[in-house]
Amino acid sequence: MDDKFSDEVLGRARVKNNEKLASFYDDLKNYSTGALWEVANDIEPWEPAAPSVPYHWSYEVTRKHVVQSIDLVTPEEAARRVVYFSNPGALDKSACVGWLYSGIQGMKPGERAPAHAHSSSALRFIIEGKGAYTVVDHHKVPLGGNDFVITPNGVWHDHGIAEDGEISIWQDGLDIPLAKAMDASFYSLHPEGYQPIDFPIGDLPTIYGAPGLLPVNHNWDKPYSPMFKYPWDKTYEALKGLEQMTDGCEFDGIIMRYTNPINGGHVMSTMGAHMQLLRGGEHTKAHRHTGSIVYHVAKGQGYSVIGGKKFEWKEHDVFVVPSWVWHEHCNTNSKDDACLFSFNDLPTIEKMNFYREEAYTENGGHQEIVA
Ligand SMILES: [Fe+2]
Ligand SMILES: [Fe+2]
Repeated sequence: MDDKFSDEVLGRARVKNNEKLASFYDDLKNYSTGALWEVANDIEPWEPAAPSVPYHWSYEVTRKHVVQSIDLVTPEEAARRVVYFSNPGALDKSACVGWLYSGIQGMKPGERAPAHAHSSSALRFIIEGKGAYTVVDHHKVPLGGNDFVITPNGVWHDHGIAEDGEISIWQDGLDIPLAKAMDASFYSLHPEGYQPIDFPIGDLPTIYGAPGLLPVNHNWDKPYSPMFKYPWDKTYEALKGLEQMTDGCEFDGIIMRYTNPINGGHVMSTMGAHMQLLRGGEHTKAHRHTGSIVYHVAKGQGYSVIGGKKFEWKEHDVFVVPSWVWHEHCNTNSKDDACLFSFNDLPTIEKMNFYREEAYTENGGHQEIVA
């Protein structure tokens, strides 16, 4: 162990066990108590030691399983017919990384999932298909490839595929493990089964999505973005514009945060999201920060080095960076850009004043690849 993390120093728990202490500990257990110094160094490590591990899931493999699931169970039986990502370091939490859940959902034409609401915030990143839609708080939102959609916590939502559509597949992201860990998880079913649609189709992204403009006297006062959908074409156009005007960020290339247009903040209370563009051949420098990140390759191919391990990725693969693990990204195509969508628990981390970030300074800012 690195000397700076030795527990054999004044200020850390370093009590040596003996017979008298052992019997004292046994006695404490009889009263549902314990000696803090027995557990202190584990429950308060010197720095974050996420049990989740860096991991990569190939879309080719996951897609096969999702398509198989379509023939195995109905949405009525499964409620949410999803193949979820199970991080080997967080199996007990059904987490993709940290306190974030994620999975891939597939539906065929004519199918519709029952409307429900839950304490977890949810988001969706569309991969493929035709005719997919989601209904959020009685607003119907049509979905297209690489669109980003939010379903904030506590809000009714359901989704389906039009009769004349095609099999549609998307990634779901929720903070289910967080809501569960905080003993704050509620789940409700809509009394009518499906939500009545009370507004013109696609109204909110039109009303609130004009660049730099908000309707006079708008009355949006909810603690989440009114932009239930962030369409891919406008997102990509914004990234390309920023690319022309700046050098971007040394750790993330050209990166933009999906925001609530009312206040410029995160899209939801507990989860945020970014889209980033890596220019042809770009290799970012490594950094690490608190907060867990789930990446979805929206465009292109390349690799990321996460905690010293190299993970190659291509379109629609998913990979994760646990909290406080070094990471850097490389677009291996020198002639075209690559785009990474990502979502995170940063709004929660920031509200708790837990955010911390550090640059990797050795070896020109690049990690040694150990495996
Ligand atoms: Fe849901
Ligand atoms: Fe990062």
